[in-house]
Amino acid sequence: MPPAPKLLAPGPRGLPLLGNARVFGANPPAALAAWTAAHGPVVRFHIGPMVAHVITHVEGVQHVLVDNYSNYHKAPRMNFLSDFLGMSLLTLEDDGWKRRRKLAQPAFHKKRLVEMSEPMVAHANRMVDGWAPTIASGAPLDISAQMTRITLGVVGEALFGVDMGELTAEIEALLPLVLKHTLDRMNSVVPLPLSFPTPANRRYHAARTRLHTVVGEMIARLRAGRHQARGVMAMLMDARDEETGAGLTDEELRSEAMTLMFAGHETTANALSWTWWLLAQNPEAAARLREEVRAALGTRAPTADDLPALAYVANVVQEAMRLMPPSWAIGRMPLEDDEVLGFHIPAKSMVLLAPCVTHRDPTQWPDPDRFDPDRFTPARSVGRHRMAYIPFSAGPRVCIGASFSMMEATLIVAVVTQRAQLELDPTQEVSVEPSLTLRPRDGIRMIVRGAEA
Ligand code: HEM
Repeated sequence: MPPAPKLLAPGPRGLPLLGNARVFGANPPAALAAWTAAHGPVVRFHIGPMVAHVITHVEGVQHVLVDNYSNYHKAPRMNFLSDFLGMSLLTLEDDGWKRRRKLAQPAFHKKRLVEMSEPMVAHANRMVDGWAPTIASGAPLDISAQMTRITLGVVGEALFGVDMGELTAEIEALLPLVLKHTLDRMNSVVPLPLSFPTPANRRYHAARTRLHTVVGEMIARLRAGRHQARGVMAMLMDARDEETGAGLTDEELRSEAMTLMFAGHETTANALSWTWWLLAQNPEAAARLREEVRAALGTRAPTADDLPALAYVANVVQEAMRLMPPSWAIGRMPLEDDEVLGFHIPAKSMVLLAPCVTHRDPTQWPDPDRFDPDRFTPARSVGRHRMAYIPFSAGPRVCIGASFSMMEATLIVAVVTQRAQLELDPTQEVSVEPSLTLRPRDGIRMIVRGAEA
């Protein structure tokens, strides 16, 4: 008997050559949502000659990320990141990745995270101290720039065990240059090789070299023992492969430091920025949040021990990441042909999982567009599919920094709420930029008032 024909998933009609690239490129999250609404939980489309599928049903997500994860590598787009990140936890595959993850995991152990709570709170308090002139003048403040700076400062201190001070501002200026160029190349139909001496390539190389130098110097200082050996990088430096006894080279350490800085700050910054944006539009939730923080802390600084009493704060952050997931899509490439929910998925094609769509699936999330932090209470979470909420992905390649960033975001929201009130500047239109992460296109301007105002 001949084999049964492979069932192709339905999808939008495309243009010759371009396929659906134009509609997708104009606003990827909107395109994915519209196609899912029109065609169902597995949608086939084309980006130029490449076959792609977006899989949004929880069972399909479970299949790709968990049940059949070994058939999937990261999407080839990730290779563009390796040029400046190097081969790291984010970009390695198979055994190389497994060994690295095993080395790195202990640095993110709960006990280690608790040690980070104090610097997180200290950074938050210093940030609010710096708002005094803004509070006095009533001038608007770009809250997303503030969140970017604090999350970079926090991750830098988590990595190296010291406040990176002035270097934070330098890295903050360099990273967007490198990222923008990487993204432009990812989105270009025929990316120019990095070796071409174009002005853009030259600027990229200069920024990348400086970043590598700064991070390399931090690692050299750590090796020389000039700093107290605290933090994730010190642990990674001491870690040894169980089988071979080998440690990481300086270049491998630099790749991990670059990766953790990159993966660990813009994502958390966006989670926080959207949290403030949503709270400003939901005064009842903001009032409940203030009440919880007041009851749990009064005016004293929070510690990790206070986290259980800040459950509503954490639910607010989770709900913000449901509606505005910083990692709006997770890309994969099947190594062999696969079948998902009955549909054929060819080897070497592109598979997208889309937290931005799955997080608003009405079968999992009643009234999905409503901001409702109580969805995350234990009582209301009973029976929800584990893949309905995947801001940090799932399965073996789940985000290593998930607990770190939840703790960080919860503590920062608590400290800011204790000391300030944030209102949206009504003169602005906030718009979304689905870049590598889902971020506000031109920042979010907010008026800051003292807590008691
Ligand atoms: C709200 C904050 C964050 C979000 C939404 C987020 C999201 C994600 C997602 C979706 C992935 C999976 C990517 C994929 O498989 O293609 C991931 C992986 C990763 N994240 Fe995060 N992340 C956050 C914070 C952090 C922090 C704070 C760190 C480190 C300090 C971090 C480090 C990493 C690393 C190293 C990986 C790769 C893990 C592996 O493949 O073994 N992330 N993150």
